[in-house]
Amino acid sequence: MAVRITNTRYYPKYHIAAPGGWINDPNGFCYFKGKYHLFYQYHPHSTQWGPMHWGHVVSDDLINWSHLPIALAPVDGCDRDGCFSGSAIEKDGQLYLFYTGHLNTPENPEGFRQVQNFAVGEDGVHFSKSLNNPVITVPEDEEIHRADFRDPKVWKNEETGKYYMVVGSRVPDNVAGQVLLFESDDLIEWKFKSIMARVAGNEGFMWECPNFANVEGHDILMMSPQGIKRELNKYMNVYQSGYFMGNFDYETGVFTRGEFELLDYGFDFYAPQITELPDGRTIMIAWADMWQSPMPEQEDGWAGMMTVPREIHVKGGKLVTPPVKELEKLRTSKKVYEDLAMYKATKLEGVSGETGELILDIDLTETNEFEIYLRASEDKTQKTVLSYNKALEIFRVNRDESGAGVDGERECTIAPADKMKLQIFLDRSSIEIFINDGEKVMSLRVYPNADSTDIVFVPKEGGLKIDSLNFYELGVGIPQPVID
Ligand code: FRU
Repeated sequence: MAVRITNTRYYPKYHIAAPGGWINDPNGFCYFKGKYHLFYQYHPHSTQWGPMHWGHVVSDDLINWSHLPIALAPVDGCDRDGCFSGSAIEKDGQLYLFYTGHLNTPENPEGFRQVQNFAVGEDGVHFSKSLNNPVITVPEDEEIHRADFRDPKVWKNEETGKYYMVVGSRVPDNVAGQVLLFESDDLIEWKFKSIMARVAGNEGFMWECPNFANVEGHDILMMSPQGIKRELNKYMNVYQSGYFMGNFDYETGVFTRGEFELLDYGFDFYAPQITELPDGRTIMIAWADMWQSPMPEQEDGWAGMMTVPREIHVKGGKLVTPPVKELEKLRTSKKVYEDLAMYKATKLEGVSGETGELILDIDLTETNEFEIYLRASEDKTQKTVLSYNKALEIFRVNRDESGAGVDGERECTIAPADKMKLQIFLDRSSIEIFINDGEKVMSLRVYPNADSTDIVFVPKEGGLKIDSLNFYELGVGIPQPVID
């Protein structure tokens, strides 16, 4: 039995969360037989990380999700201490789930081993583990760490006709993360092909959760590095998630890469996973939390949630990640304002809530600086503060007064321009801020009181002019826990 949820004060209305217990990384994100599936790292028996299962939700539209039974549990010789992260792929009408089996091995100096396994099923609900598991063990190679070897992401290349798998790894002396590449004709027999990419500079000691895709003609290698060192106000989270744009050579198995770029600049975004949809879009979802961060919802019988799904496009040589357009279907009511010019702190009738979507087209021609308070209490002592300073080119989010548990500030660079678009999703204990259609995104968890629902516009230098403001109330997308 899963842990029971005792209070819904922080429980999301439309983001994916577990029906009780702990969750972390998204796994097996895919479109299979007309439905979207998302699996996730799940510990049903407590609100802390523990032996990992794969939880499972399904949706017809990427918006309305239903819970399905646990897909994988750590009960077999190949995964007895955890079914760690992995991915899904369809072949001949069957869905294959590739995942890491975690095995505690006190006889080894590192204390554990990791292997790659798969399970398969045709109804998208029930999965049988392969009798061939493990299908991959760590390659005997002096450049590859013996223990950390996890998070398989599998794809097919139509030109070569083969299947490929990236796996997160590190070098034996622990100083550099790397991605290993495997190749298969049939998803069952796998061959180690290459060290596909490796750290160059301050890019971490271990790369978790690699992903590969070709997006709009550009090869993208994504990963979640552990161990990137803070550089001034950059890389302030304990771990990061980002990508390299480059060129992948299927012959040699080597990825030639550009600079490491972050995928999100907030506090809470980790282990993103991508999938390609039949309509050609590549979309991404991530855990909207961070290792070692406080999670006040643990008091209420649950822990962790996903971000909204985001599209991935290329613009100006970088990825932009706007929210999926399907989210528009969640809108239940709309409030519109046009041509606003504000010179003092302002609240607008009909623009507030613990959930909702706010879209602002801001005119910055005369403005140097502004702030916006989200989830603010009547007396403004509780609030999450967004701010932009055009001269400094800095967009910030501050959660020192956001409520229970959390604090701190994060920032990103936004070049000065005459216009700025903000699209902000609020969902009880989360905020996601999309700047200029996903040019930069900041995701964070916040734990305000339920009645801290005000949105306050706070002009600073030069007033605040908003060409158009749209505020939408949003419906329910994830089953709401029933409290006894
Ligand atoms: C990333 C991660 C993965 C691992 C999983 C275990 O958050 O550490 O590398 O497979 O979580 O739950």
